[in-house]
Amino acid sequence: MTIQTLSTLNVKNKRVLLRLDLNTEIINNKPVFSPRMKSHLQTLNELRRKKAITVILAHQSRQGKKDFTSLEQHAKLLKVKFVPDILGKKAITAITKLKPGEVLLLENIRSIKDEFNTSIKDNDLINILALLFDIYLNDAFSISHRKQTSVTGFPQVLPHGIGRVMEKEIESLKKINLKNTLYILGGAKPKENIDILRKNKNVLTAGIFGQLCTIAKGHNLGAQNKFLKKEIKEFVPLLKPLVKNIQTPIDFAVKINGKRKEIPIQSFPSKYEIFDIGKKTQELYIKKIKQAKSIFMKGTAGYCEEKQFCQGTKSILEAIAKSKAFSILGGGHTTSAIAKLKINKKKFNYISLSGGALAEYVAGKKLPGVEVLKK
Ligand code: 3PG
Ligand code: MG
Repeated sequence: MTIQTLSTLNVKNKRVLLRLDLNTEIINNKPVFSPRMKSHLQTLNELRRKKAITVILAHQSRQGKKDFTSLEQHAKLLKVKFVPDILGKKAITAITKLKPGEVLLLENIRSIKDEFNTSIKDNDLINILALLFDIYLNDAFSISHRKQTSVTGFPQVLPHGIGRVMEKEIESLKKINLKNTLYILGGAKPKENIDILRKNKNVLTAGIFGQLCTIAKGHNLGAQNKFLKKEIKEFVPLLKPLVKNIQTPIDFAVKINGKRKEIPIQSFPSKYEIFDIGKKTQELYIKKIKQAKSIFMKGTAGYCEEKQFCQGTKSILEAIAKSKAFSILGGGHTTSAIAKLKINKKKFNYISLSGGALAEYVAGKKLPGVEVLKK
């Protein structure tokens, strides 16, 4: 079955339970108005205009983490009503009082245990909340790799569809030709990249990920070893059988007395910390980018927080921007880098709001949050 959208569903006067991804950076105790939030406004405005009665479910971080907060200020940024409750009397009263065209945000969904209940049986979110709604909408591809009640539970018991942001993600992703894609994988999250490596050999690596692949090939990076976190280094054995035919950096940029210095891979081990890929690597990658028919990039090539170490990311992004290849980019840091480096976004075919979900999708995995909507 094809997935229903706001073009095929009638939402007028309907009670719509809407899952958004409002997960953002918290700076000085305040949530940052993110590109994700901004994009969701399109769906919210359409629901308002169509006189739906909309209740938003969303999360901020994970329990136990420093940025796990209430969504009260997120509601202010979105200019919607808020109730600090999900299943209690306060929430139910607020939900039932809503009028057509109004929007209400409930409290951080990850404060409820049953969000992590993978069954819809004995699940309070399903037993209490679902009864109050006519339609469930998912507008966040970026959370669709999670088997959580607000993603995969509600669509099992309510008529369902997707919002405009998720619709655009899915449509754009359909256009990538996975067979001829050049993958440029950087950043610091090896787990998501591993599935891509299992299936593809046309891969350029950079960032922390590129360092791990270099180590997996048998190189000794010297002092950098102690700067890589233990949880990250644990991926090296997993990467070993996968890295033989993939491209790893041929030189790295280190910091010596505060200044960038480049060291070829043959001259390692070195006693300096690595912050970027070197110039020779950049030249090699630019050449490969020029030959590519389609490109997938996720994760930065170096430490973009410092301008001198954003050079690798900059040259890769600029080469992709210049190339005629179909290009798709994802990951929070990569999209921030594009903004920071003031590269024209229109030069890329698609910049995804998703990180982990996107990586799983391009690795050929079926996302539970998308599959459930097909039923
Ligand atoms: C994200 O920021 O990638 C999404 O909101 C998913 O968050 P999660 O990785 O904590 O599930
Ligand atoms: Mg994430």
